[in-house]
Amino acid sequence: MKKLHFAILKSEFEDEHLQQWENACEERSDLISWEIIDLTRADWLKQIKSKNIDGLLALPPNITNAFKSLYDERVTILHEECGIPVFPFLGEIKVYENKKYLSYWLAAHNIPHPQTNVFYHKQEALNFLKDSPLPIVGKTNIGASGHGVSILKSRQQAIEYVNNTFSGKGSTRKVGPNWKKKGFAKRVFKKLLNPGAFKAKLKQYQHQNTEKQTEYVILQEFIAHTFEWRCVRIGDSFFAHKKMVMGEKASGSLIKGYENPPLELLDFVKEVTDLKHFRSQSVDIFTTQDGRYLVNEMQCTFGQSDPYQMLIDGTAGRYIIKDGEWLFEAGDFNRYECFLLRLDYFLETLVPSALRN
Ligand SMILES: Nc1ncnc2c1ncn2[C@@H]1O[C@H](COP(=O)(O)OP(=O)(O)O)[C@@H](O)[C@H]1O
Ligand SMILES: [Mg+2]
Repeated sequence: MKKLHFAILKSEFEDEHLQQWENACEERSDLISWEIIDLTRADWLKQIKSKNIDGLLALPPNITNAFKSLYDERVTILHEECGIPVFPFLGEIKVYENKKYLSYWLAAHNIPHPQTNVFYHKQEALNFLKDSPLPIVGKTNIGASGHGVSILKSRQQAIEYVNNTFSGKGSTRKVGPNWKKKGFAKRVFKKLLNPGAFKAKLKQYQHQNTEKQTEYVILQEFIAHTFEWRCVRIGDSFFAHKKMVMGEKASGSLIKGYENPPLELLDFVKEVTDLKHFRSQSVDIFTTQDGRYLVNEMQCTFGQSDPYQMLIDGTAGRYIIKDGEWLFEAGDFNRYECFLLRLDYFLETLVPSALRN
């Protein structure tokens, strides 16, 4: 088989995932060659059209809305107009790090989720707050490990949040080092030993803090919870573990609960991802007090702090469906933060027998 040539589409920062895509490509270098293309540069289209690219390995950004829409627009042109296959798939890139778009998408497909309103008119938001239940949750469109989420406990607080947004001050979104995240001291120490990485991180925080959300507010129903299920589907492999709440939020805490997930949870994740053929997803799910599952977030790339996504009775592995039944397979399926599993799935879609030889 002739080697396929892939382009890893980098955005404005060299995040750790770029290295993971590369590690995965290195592992399959008998089948593919690859290069990195900076999608934020003015010559992005010329660069790609001048080469024979068989597939695009995407890494959508998660810091500012401007770079997020740049990424969405350019990948849409490359995929839909130039016809180049992309992974994660375009639909999954679009719902990624776009909380308002995700809420429309979930509502359009009748997928249970915390009820969400996006207001572009201040008065409409204030009217809504007159008799909305409290607390209510204010969110910025693009997430940041919980930094963009405000739990508004009093009506006064909620009104202030809306007023601040539309007055030009912006919906609150404070970013900086996350001292609540497990392993903070270790991470600081590592950064101090590597001044380059430290400077890059500071630059990222500066970039993040330029983001101001002033045109709309996102207000969401508050769901009491002590954990979120982090479910993952890559290709036809499924995983799940719990992210435990620390303070008010589960996001960013990095405290895991590796419990056996109920099979109905996997059914739910399969149903949600099958709808539009999503094959690289983490689906974060709240369980309501009466036992219903609600989708909070869907991400096509996501961090992984342990070498595995799931332990069943202490053993790492995945769930697959065999003869219509969930089957647990022990093994190491999450190498390079799942990027090898992503790459192998993508390869299979392009050349079905590629990995069998
Ligand atoms: N509707 C909600 N009700 C209660 N808590 C919420 C709600 N939405 C988010 N949270 C809490 O805030 C955390 C961060 O919110 P999330 O929407 O996941 O944003 P992020 O992009 O920062 O991860 C979640 O992990 C959860 O613990
Ligand atoms: Mg989250």
